[in-house]
Amino acid sequence: MPEVAPSILAADFSKLGEEVRRVSEAGADYIHIDVMDGVFVPNITIGPAVVQSIRQHSKLPFISHLMISHPERHIDAFAKAGSDIIEVHFEAEQDDVRETLRAVRRAGCRAGLAVNPPTPIEDAFEYLDDVDLLLIMSVNPGFGGQKFIPDVLAKIPGVKQELLRRGLRTPIEIDGGINDKTGAMASEAGADILAAGTYVLKSESARTAIETLRGTSGQSKH
Ligand code: DX5
Ligand code: ZN
Repeated sequence: MPEVAPSILAADFSKLGEEVRRVSEAGADYIHIDVMDGVFVPNITIGPAVVQSIRQHSKLPFISHLMISHPERHIDAFAKAGSDIIEVHFEAEQDDVRETLRAVRRAGCRAGLAVNPPTPIEDAFEYLDDVDLLLIMSVNPGFGGQKFIPDVLAKIPGVKQELLRRGLRTPIEIDGGINDKTGAMASEAGADILAAGTYVLKSESARTAIETLRGTSGQSKH
């Protein structure tokens, strides 16, 4: 049964605290926070000050998904703001990927490595010992509401095998275009965490959307 990480990129930013509370109370497992810098990706979203101010609205672990160049420069700020997991991109310009991942752990957070759709997953293998969570992007990062790229699912069996070979139980998160259908495909393929913005935040009932993604809809009615 996959866990669910609603992405607040699809929230109403004028009432972000309330939105974080709403999805937390609807049964989410994590809060997924999309950080974009207008350089690594074309869009600009939020920074550590916003993470800090929404922190008080949820007890759930915060995943800060950094879609930014030189993530190593901002790790301490996102850690101090209340992130529990910090994800950095393999493709982002940075001094040294391994060193960035280690800096995340040193800052007291779990280290996530994110991989874009065109990047072969094998490129991430050499870093797996320094990774606590692997993020497989199922859209090209930059915007919410994009269409799921099914080809990325083929990455999951290979990486699972490599993790097993190394004796690791690193969870795999998938992010972008996740809905009831693509979420089922992703969890069938072995994804452990489904990040979903539009599908959860814009649905009539966040609880139903989350339960559907988890595959438990209809089994527990609250
Ligand atoms: C894409 C972001 C995703 C995205 C998810 O750049 O990393 O987290 O916003 O939103 P949906 O679920 O709407 O694709
Ligand atoms: Zn994301």
